[in-house]
Amino acid sequence: MSGGHEPVLLTEVVEHLAAPTVRRIVDGTVGLGGHAAALLQRLPTVELLGLDRDADALAVATVALQGYGARVHLRQCPFSTLAEAVHDLGWATVDAVLLDIGMSSPQIDTAARGFSFRREGPLDMRMDRRDRTTAAVILNTWSEAELARLFREYGEEPKARAVARAVVARREERPWSHTVELAELLEQVLSRPGARGLQVASRCFQALRMAVNDELGELERGLQAAVEVLAPGGRLAVITFHSLEDRLVKQFIRQEALDCVCPPSCPVCICTKAARLQPLTRKSLTAGAAEVERNPRAAPARLRVAERLVGQRTRAAGSPR
Ligand SMILES: C[S@@+](CC[C@H](N)C(=O)[O-])C[C@H]1O[C@@H](n2cnc3c(N)ncnc32)[C@H](O)[C@@H]1O
Repeated sequence: MSGGHEPVLLTEVVEHLAAPTVRRIVDGTVGLGGHAAALLQRLPTVELLGLDRDADALAVATVALQGYGARVHLRQCPFSTLAEAVHDLGWATVDAVLLDIGMSSPQIDTAARGFSFRREGPLDMRMDRRDRTTAAVILNTWSEAELARLFREYGEEPKARAVARAVVARREERPWSHTVELAELLEQVLSRPGARGLQVASRCFQALRMAVNDELGELERGLQAAVEVLAPGGRLAVITFHSLEDRLVKQFIRQEALDCVCPPSCPVCICTKAARLQPLTRKSLTAGAAEVERNPRAAPARLRVAERLVGQRTRAAGSPR
């Protein structure tokens, strides 16, 4: 795994997370260490816990961050378990959590990882190669209906049923094993006027990757864990690259900002909900033209930031809604 990954929305992340009072940061997707290095450099006394599911990424981060010595703690684990990782270090709370949910450039560019429809490699797509489910396992064992739902829901692919049918028909001849043969089948099934060659394969590859790594489930659990470990005034910053993920983050922050979730028919508040987050970005932040020109992979990125509230109810039960 080589470097070559430019951290996305770096200025915006540092601006929102690097307050002088910050002492402890969790980077839940440390990747190649780009965001982490910028935060460690900006805040000379901060300690950072960097997590990644991918052993190759952690190996690169270890080298990239070695200059920061004992201020850096790195662990191979999914960010859904970040609360355990924080407590294992003896920390009760942290002042900032960053999640940058995309793929790193080396993951995409390394054919043997199987993420790219442009490069011949095994249909793997596991971020953590200790996991059991690969893309080939899904393609060879899921039912046609399950595959159709996967391509429709995660890939937002209009011809999901046709794709699922073709995948199942083809595996009856020989099992799926390699990326380019899948890309070629997708091109045949999905070819539409104006679509550029193998580009049509990208949605279905993305859907498979999301399923292999349970990416939406991870995000949901990771957001919950982040709010639990953030100290009052601490900040959560999340960068997503997919509309389903951005929607999940937006709805999570909106829900956590509510002080009452009683149904509209209820004249007085009977719930025990307390707001735990205050959104700091009304709309998601996106990369400017100069960043996208330098780094086209930043184009779909969306950043949302929220601040942890004390978490005490401001309304008494029975007060008007
Ligand atoms: C876009 S890269 C992060 C780049 C990083 N911010 C940097 O500046 O180098 C995303 C990283 O998140 C990791 N990742 C994705 N989902 C994860 C999860 N649920 N738990 C832990 N790491 C995850 C990937 O393995 C990848 O290394």
